[in-house]
Amino acid sequence: MHDPAVLRSMHLARFKAEPSVFVAPGRVNLIGEHTDYAEGFVMPVAIDFATLAAISPRTDGKIVLYSENYAEDGERTFDADAPLTASKHWTDYPLGVVAILTGEGHKIPGFSLSLWGDVPLGSGLSSSASVEVVTALAVLSLICSSYPGPVLARLCQRVENEFVGTSCGIMDQFISVNGKENHALLLDCRDLSFKLAPIPADVALVIANTMVKHSIAGGDYPTRRRESEAACAVIASHRPGVPFLRDATLEDLEKWGREMQPKSLMRARHVISENLRTVAAEKALEKGDLKELGRLMAEAHNSYSGDFDGSCPEADLMVELAQDIPGLIGARLTGGGFGGCTINLVEQSQAKAFAAELGKRYAARTGIVPQIHVCHASGGAHKIG
Ligand code: GLA
Repeated sequence: MHDPAVLRSMHLARFKAEPSVFVAPGRVNLIGEHTDYAEGFVMPVAIDFATLAAISPRTDGKIVLYSENYAEDGERTFDADAPLTASKHWTDYPLGVVAILTGEGHKIPGFSLSLWGDVPLGSGLSSSASVEVVTALAVLSLICSSYPGPVLARLCQRVENEFVGTSCGIMDQFISVNGKENHALLLDCRDLSFKLAPIPADVALVIANTMVKHSIAGGDYPTRRRESEAACAVIASHRPGVPFLRDATLEDLEKWGREMQPKSLMRARHVISENLRTVAAEKALEKGDLKELGRLMAEAHNSYSGDFDGSCPEADLMVELAQDIPGLIGARLTGGGFGGCTINLVEQSQAKAFAAELGKRYAARTGIVPQIHVCHASGGAHKIG
């Protein structure tokens, strides 16, 4: 697990300067997949995997970046005054933060930044969002500035959209900034209003990593997004009040679905039904109706895997293998899709045994030893000490 004291002394030894230290969590999404960019609903939880940043000012006008996760790369140095461009390297995330803040009119001075995280990379747990958010807090502290949580999340989303070049929505950055201990958050991605949904103390979050890596920078994520948006355009040509699938209904698909490409119709059916399920899931959680929550998660997985074609054989298997292990409340693939992790809601008293059994079954069937973590719903990004 990440240890701020260790990062602090590593930074001090490397840069001979006492740093300020910040932390930003990764996330797991309970339900609401590929709905955020359609201005719909999501229900993520910040988790106790996180990225830490240690920062100290420099007087030579340089930006020096170091990541313990990519220690073999050594330090990378940039000129704080030169225009910054992306290079498909891990440094794009912190540099993108500097570029977006500069575009907002801030004058960012030189600094040394050390990063260290334990959010598994490329596993659908939002390691890149945690890097963006922690860097933004760290860099803003240098210039004694800050933003309200939702605004900070939007700026970090713009790092992805405008600098890195991925077409993600706002869920990951939002929950990394605004997560709350022991709670999930039902977020309305249209106006960024949210409702906290307490996770009962007797429910554990068991995250099972299929070990199949997938990046949202690849082609599948933007393809699915385009396909779903094409369906929306057909509906909007009949009903102009539908700028996003958030505004569409299953009846719209019945009426105009035959004018859509078959794939577009399926993607839209997932997004529209997923929005309904996500709102219903929060109500079920609020009422303590865990059976209904589990049912909605199962339906969500089938829709994600079937209509949205966003899963992979390993994730489908991980969900299937969980079904008859004692203690399971609900299981589904979480995050951007095509690999990564499943989220299993499990009775707390059974969590350890559940994790061990699921790992054993998955290894026996695939020959791959999965990482399975019993996680805790954590708070959002903040300064440490
Ligand atoms: C990735 C993106 C999010 C969201 C999810 C899918 O995590 O970063 O914005 O679209 O995929 O729900």
